[in-house]
Amino acid sequence: MTSTEHSEDAAVPKPFGEKPSGEKPSGVEPAGGTLAGRAAAAGAPMRLWGGRFAGGPAEALARLSVSVQFDWRLAPYDLLASKSHARVLHRAGLLDDAELAAMLAAIDDLSDAVAQGRFRPTVEDEDVHTALERGLLERLGALGGKLRAGRSRNDQVATDLRLYLREHARQVAARLTELSQALVTVASQHVETPAPGMTHLQHAQPISFGHQLLAHVQAFVRDTDRLRDWDRRASVSALGAGALAGSSLPLDPQGVAAELGFDRAFENSLDAVSDRDFAAEFLFVAALIGVHLSRIGEEIVLWTTREFGWVELDDAFATGSSIMPQKKNPDVAELARGKSGRLIGGLTGFLATLKGLPLAYDRDLQEDKEPVFDAVDTLLLVLPALTGTVATMRVRRERLAAAAPDGFALATDVAEHLVRRGVPFRQAHEAVGQLVSWCVAHDVDLDEVSDDDLAVINPLLTADVRGVLSVQGALQARSAPGGTAPDRVREQLAALRPVLDRDREWAVD
Ligand code: ARG
Repeated sequence: MTSTEHSEDAAVPKPFGEKPSGEKPSGVEPAGGTLAGRAAAAGAPMRLWGGRFAGGPAEALARLSVSVQFDWRLAPYDLLASKSHARVLHRAGLLDDAELAAMLAAIDDLSDAVAQGRFRPTVEDEDVHTALERGLLERLGALGGKLRAGRSRNDQVATDLRLYLREHARQVAARLTELSQALVTVASQHVETPAPGMTHLQHAQPISFGHQLLAHVQAFVRDTDRLRDWDRRASVSALGAGALAGSSLPLDPQGVAAELGFDRAFENSLDAVSDRDFAAEFLFVAALIGVHLSRIGEEIVLWTTREFGWVELDDAFATGSSIMPQKKNPDVAELARGKSGRLIGGLTGFLATLKGLPLAYDRDLQEDKEPVFDAVDTLLLVLPALTGTVATMRVRRERLAAAAPDGFALATDVAEHLVRRGVPFRQAHEAVGQLVSWCVAHDVDLDEVSDDDLAVINPLLTADVRGVLSVQGALQARSAPGGTAPDRVREQLAALRPVLDRDREWAVD
């Protein structure tokens, strides 16, 4: 065999420095140097498509085309799919028993070498598929070349990416569920803690602080649900579609699909190799998770300001300033907010890539991987940090309780009290509006107005309105289903328990 031999060989210039098994590439370099010169020195680089070409690719093309620096993380999935494909070739009579045994042993050996970092791609490997075929050829000689029968990189890469994403969607779900659990734990300690409820970021009505935290959990639970729902559609194997038209060899796409843990095989070979809905949809779910992280991130930023002072961050989840010794900054929350930008960008960029692509495979589709990998990496970075932030933050109960009635937050309660006495809401609203305006002018709170003044402001305002001017009363009163009354919040907590159990069960570490 004439390939560039041995990524293992330290003499090979600049192997891609990526660690194996899906870790984030580090120190990966683009195909640098003169590929042509290097190829001449090391023998022609192994390409999967050299036959009809007189010479090697131009360096500029090679540099543009190479994807191994980012698609190497698909190696474990490509190898898994290769084993299934080898078995299919055996069932089809295209590999005899001994050949299958040798093939499977070589794939296993290559898998170990990949996992241990002994086998790595080199700059001459165009993509992960090329690198792994080289590894197989190094181990098996000509027999290694039999695996490509009936298979194209087009159906391979679509299958690999689905395998990768289905596994990582479960990791994202695991981290998301941990964040939800952290929020649930804090919420359960603050079911009875009154807090200012806001609309337009203005004091609106008092709420239970636990209720507010659980509102974020509801969003994260929907996100996990979306991942599970996405997974049903993503659970399709593309292997057997070949380049685009299916295969003339007696392959077994259903069998391969089942072996790889997919629910089913493709129904249309063109669709199998050109469809990236699963990637786009994953990016949407990731972007929406990013938006939810950004929203809670923004709240934590607000809550930790001196002006709010609702929450104090643990030192382990706060940062300082290089010049201002007193600073304690909520960087985790800010990064959660900030990184939503790249998640949204990944989605919109990739939708733009897909738009207008003719069937079936186009090289544009190679652009699917980086946004998807970045989305996974970003979420797996942000989620544990935010979980730690929430789990360790100190909620300042007294500050929250003191602020809860601020800004005339009990005004609606007074109006609804009048309604219960038979006053049309329109008039009640008007009367309480006059009361608030009087309080603003006199710089007093609602409960500081005397009976006489109440009567002067509006005759509907009798002394008994003062009875509803209690934050606890206001919370208790919001007892309709889904409301902020502590009993209802406790119900919400109870309802979330089996939901989080179910999510945990689906997720994997
Ligand atoms: N690296 C390529 C990708 O990710 C693999 C498929 C290449 N197929 C081809 N026809 N050139 O899309």
